[in-house]
Amino acid sequence: MSSAGSIPIAIRAIDVIRKKRDGAELTRAEIEALVNGYTSGEIPDYQASAWLMATLLKGMTRAETAALTDTMLRSGEVMDLSDLPARKVDKHSTGGVGDKTSLVLAPLAAAGGLCVPMISGRGLGHTGGTLDKLEAIPGFNVNLPVTRFREVLEACGCAMIGQTAEIAPADRKLYALRDVTGTVESPFLICASIMSKKLAEGIDALVLDVKTGSGAFMKNEKDAAYLAELMVETGERMGKKMAALITDMDQPLGRYVGNSLEVVEVLEVLRGAGPEDLRNLCLELAAWMFFLGERASSIDDGKRLAAKLLASGDALQRFRKMIEMQGGDPRVVDDPNVLPRTLHSLDVQSPKAGYVTAIQCERAGTACVILGGGRERKEDSVDPAVGFVLHKKVGDFVAAGEVLCTVYYNSETLGARARAMLLESFEISEIARTEKRPLVHRVITKSGEKS
Ligand code: URA
Repeated sequence: MSSAGSIPIAIRAIDVIRKKRDGAELTRAEIEALVNGYTSGEIPDYQASAWLMATLLKGMTRAETAALTDTMLRSGEVMDLSDLPARKVDKHSTGGVGDKTSLVLAPLAAAGGLCVPMISGRGLGHTGGTLDKLEAIPGFNVNLPVTRFREVLEACGCAMIGQTAEIAPADRKLYALRDVTGTVESPFLICASIMSKKLAEGIDALVLDVKTGSGAFMKNEKDAAYLAELMVETGERMGKKMAALITDMDQPLGRYVGNSLEVVEVLEVLRGAGPEDLRNLCLELAAWMFFLGERASSIDDGKRLAAKLLASGDALQRFRKMIEMQGGDPRVVDDPNVLPRTLHSLDVQSPKAGYVTAIQCERAGTACVILGGGRERKEDSVDPAVGFVLHKKVGDFVAAGEVLCTVYYNSETLGARARAMLLESFEISEIARTEKRPLVHRVITKSGEKS
């Protein structure tokens, strides 16, 4: 671990900015000087902003991306979990609507003998966040000190917390600057940001769920695949086993959207039931975790193991134990009524008969944010109880007046706004029946190797 040091005399921020502006490749030393200098406060915001914008416009080579990731990773602590015998494997999703797979996968992978040290984030824009979902469980603490995090991991095989001050501080500072300088969208900067945090967990392997479609940040598959390849290659350069699944986010995943509601659906999957798309994606991602973590000899073998652990209740028992050890109310596992509930609900009816051809996923996610289920501003708190349940999904037939979805709300005004947005997000055609898109579009396992 190296701490943020001062800029060597020979390397000046202005020269690094000019070099990137002119499209040349930076050396590792130049990247380190820039990032460490900014993290320690020696380089001001305006110079770091200029460098970020030059990077967004000119791009980075693979070697530069690896050097940036490594520098950001080493700006803070890298957890040493080498005393825990199990293989350490995590999963990261680029974010979507109704994407609650992390809550299933951490206990499921742990029940199968892996160690899952999961550091997660909060909702971003129209997408939900794992920490907000976990906090819907009364008492659940996502801010554990590192010593307690290790205790939970040791006893449970999985633990789920938020980013601490010690993990990749360079990313914290750079991410906040990118957010206000129009430089979030660079795949190179996204890759370094995500990978520096994930690699700080001290993992052996990582499965990436890169979303594509109307509810994802990467709306088209080409951009999603480019980001996925970049992250796979960067992780491999650092000696990690990597796989990226490009998965569908053209409609919400599962049927429940909203923090408490999503915990209910997680419990259904952990009981061996739940909606087909959510269950299948969990089985697929778990299979890759087991395969990379050497608990399964093939993906099919991994899927069988995952299905067995759901059917036996072992994964559910892990979830109960993790909730208990992280201060949450374990009764939630047997009685979802322990979760926060709204005062009101209303049904949204279809104005006409036909097939659902699309559900505009970003709009549906925004409806949940408007209800209070996500944040309009960074400092907002979320209402864990609000959200919606879909009764119809793409490809389903709906009769005129039949219920498309049910909205759960606490404010009449917000409930009415969300209802209008959800109604708008459904596209219904009397004639055309849309084929369901595949859940997993492709898998990227090694640089350049796709299936
Ligand atoms: N999530 C991150 O952690 N970083 C990014 O840059 C984008 C999404």
